[in-house]
Amino acid sequence: MKILVIGGGGREHAIIKKLKEDHRVEKIYALPGNGGIAADAVCLGGSATDIPAAVSAARENNVDFVVVAPDDPLVLGMVDALEAEGFPCFGPRKNAAVIEGSKAFSKDLMKKYGIPTAAYETFTDMDKALAYVETCPLPTVVKADGLALGKGVLICETRGAARDAVRSMMEGRLFGDSGATVVIEEFLTGPEVSVLSFTDGETVVPMVSSMDHKRALDNDQGLNTGGMGTIAPNPYYTPEIAASCMEKIFLPTIRAMKAEGRPFKGCLYFGLMLTPDGPKVIEYNCRFGDPETQVVLPLLESSLLEIMLAVSEGALADTEVKFSEKSACCVILASAGYPQKYDKGFPITLPAAQPDERIYIAGAVRKDGELLTNGGRVLGAAATAENLPAAIKKAYALADRIHFENAFCRRDIGQRALKALEEK
Ligand code: AMP
Ligand code: GLY
Repeated sequence: MKILVIGGGGREHAIIKKLKEDHRVEKIYALPGNGGIAADAVCLGGSATDIPAAVSAARENNVDFVVVAPDDPLVLGMVDALEAEGFPCFGPRKNAAVIEGSKAFSKDLMKKYGIPTAAYETFTDMDKALAYVETCPLPTVVKADGLALGKGVLICETRGAARDAVRSMMEGRLFGDSGATVVIEEFLTGPEVSVLSFTDGETVVPMVSSMDHKRALDNDQGLNTGGMGTIAPNPYYTPEIAASCMEKIFLPTIRAMKAEGRPFKGCLYFGLMLTPDGPKVIEYNCRFGDPETQVVLPLLESSLLEIMLAVSEGALADTEVKFSEKSACCVILASAGYPQKYDKGFPITLPAAQPDERIYIAGAVRKDGELLTNGGRVLGAAATAENLPAAIKKAYALADRIHFENAFCRRDIGQRALKALEEK
């Protein structure tokens, strides 16, 4: 089979490497791909949001299947366009991707179907939003409605900060048109868990749980980033909690989307907070998480291709989805200055990876045969092992064998999870 994967980050590299484990995969094209992915796929360049380019690439290369990985092309309707041309896809259609594309939509869905989430109000009128923040409980959380590269969430400790947040989103358009509508919600507390799931619109199969580390610096200091490292499984997510999430969150969400005439096919990501009142949904993503995928897929023992085809055909109930009992850790190596200004173009030295080690390239280009840094998050050093402490140790040992100028990483990925294990 020939497969086209849309996207060009560490997540896509992990998806491509996993797909290649199935012997039926002859060739993979990546649009755009990147300098590191080029070792595993034919990289077409261009832009992941260019729908006509994706359709042409599928046609010209005569591909059998397309995986649309990032949020923006999904929200723009890339799957609808590809399916209309006869290409089967992994990923939700536009009317289902809205579960990530609009926070107002997802909050209303949860309210309508009784799915636990933070209490909230939605505003399209700035004066009404400003009046609301004068009386709401503090801290409060102000969110831009639309996609904002994971950055459209401001946690406000004071009324002044909340006022500024509303003004900067609705008037200053800090996140562009994504802030025309804002959701203001209750501040929740508790450990966060990411649960990615496969769903064909009827059946939902959760993957192994994981934990992201979103802040740039150790001890959750510094600015929010796309994610600085991950571990799986997440020790806070016990079998009891998993069972309750299945009953109160996962199945109700799949059924709600179907009832709304928006069946969700693809990977539905549940961002959960384990609050004192039970698990609640912080966010839905309509796609694999980055860098969650880099720890979840190495633990998948079944064929990813087989599962993705089953999702697209509506046959997930009859398909094996098996995860290993091992643990995984991924440490992101970033360019100094990320998530703000950083330099690029430094040569990257990669060691040979052992069987339980993987290097997923996120931001790199290949120039004259040399791999050069080309992004904030440059790559992920991932490892699997019998248990979490061993996986963390191995991932850092791998990260320490990779070199480029200006590299930095958090040194505490997984430490909070280890504490949770000790408390058990
Ligand atoms: P989101 O983009 O919605 O995942 O939000 C980014 C991060 O903001 C989450 O991972 C949480 O750490 C935090 N956050 C979002 N909503 C809330 C909330 N209602 N209460 C507390 N923290 C939140
Ligand atoms: N790691 C969080 C996300 O992919 O949105």
